[in-house]
Amino acid sequence: MTSQPPNLVLVPGTPQPRINDGRTTIAHVVGARPNFVKMAPVIAALEQRQAFHQVVVHTGQHYDSRMSDEVLADLDFPDVDVFLGVGSGTHGVQTAKVLSAFENVLLEIRPDVVVVAGDVNSTLACALAASKLGIAVAHLEAGLRSFDWSMPEEVNRVLTDRLADTLFTHSPEAADNLQAEGIGMGAVYYVGNTMIDSLRRCEKRARAMKAWQKIAVRERSYVLVTLHRPANVDDPARLSAIVEGLVGLSTHAPVVFPIHPRTRARLAEDGALSRLEDAGVSCIEPLSYLEFLSMQAGAGAIVTDSGGVQEEASALGVSCYTFRPNTERPITLTHGTNVLLGDDPAEICEVRPATHPPTPCAIPLWDGHAAERVADAMVANYALVRAVAHA
Ligand code: UD1
Repeated sequence: MTSQPPNLVLVPGTPQPRINDGRTTIAHVVGARPNFVKMAPVIAALEQRQAFHQVVVHTGQHYDSRMSDEVLADLDFPDVDVFLGVGSGTHGVQTAKVLSAFENVLLEIRPDVVVVAGDVNSTLACALAASKLGIAVAHLEAGLRSFDWSMPEEVNRVLTDRLADTLFTHSPEAADNLQAEGIGMGAVYYVGNTMIDSLRRCEKRARAMKAWQKIAVRERSYVLVTLHRPANVDDPARLSAIVEGLVGLSTHAPVVFPIHPRTRARLAEDGALSRLEDAGVSCIEPLSYLEFLSMQAGAGAIVTDSGGVQEEASALGVSCYTFRPNTERPITLTHGTNVLLGDDPAEICEVRPATHPPTPCAIPLWDGHAAERVADAMVANYALVRAVAHA
């Protein structure tokens, strides 16, 4: 973890003081790329309802322009009010920096509720900071479980759900998981998938972009690859076997590989990047949200270890091969296009672009309106919090 973020930046004029216009104040937390995609439609839906004063806090867990600013721009994300600039670090350091910096923000703006999304380190750190100050926490994408405690995200999910007062789920099994952990169902709202709200809103623009043309590959001919999980990329021997799998795959189909900064750093260490490039794999920088959506829509198949990509591929109807032994998103296996490839790198060579056209999957409540359901529940639960507190 070598690259560093810019220094702490507080966006001028902020943080906002506690607003006394009678409306409940919500602090939304985003930190890493997938958070932006999940949260954008929620903030927009809440803005329409005018029931809250909203403050957006970006922890700076992701800070490269490709990982943050370009994604935010594609999503028409509202201006960030507070940027914490915590950047990269070990799990302990990163989580502690977010915890400490976010606590200061909470003490300054005194929101009534904090909304966190997903399962990244910023999610847990901010939920913990809020909970310790007695501030309500709402968790978007609650209840997902891989049952693989070696994944940092699984630790973040379980602990964030334990801290949350309101839990928004995107698939039925999430409620089962929460119930099994003793979480009361009165706090759980099955709303659907806000990541798919963003997808549906941007899909037309992304398809029109035809991003594959820039890489000189034909629509449906290529396999799109993303890999960034520590379990896949941090062990040199395993990464080397994966590289051989991709080299083998590239003898059957063009392979396009937008490389996450974590993965690029590991590939550069032992010449593996050159091995991929020499084999003709298109090793490119991470793409903006729209470009990546475009590349997914035009792909013949996708190989990934990302959670969000399993969902997006299913919504688009593109065959997805998840290079992991498990998934916390089993609905993409039962109702979507996702197949677990397991963790043997040799399996990667066997993937082929689909010969059939994509059939977008109709997963219940992944209908482009999940954020509206989140906003309605937020209004029902929290809109009067401040009025009651001041009565
Ligand atoms: C994080 C999330 C993961 C999510 C992923 C999405 C955790 C534990 N992991 O993983 O769940 O799927 O984001 O991308 O929160 N780096 C840069 N520039 C950046 C960001 C990161 O160069 O803008 C490099 C740094 O070397 C850093 C490494 O990537 O050390 C890993 O970043 P980090 O945020 O710690 O984890 P991700 O692998 O991105």
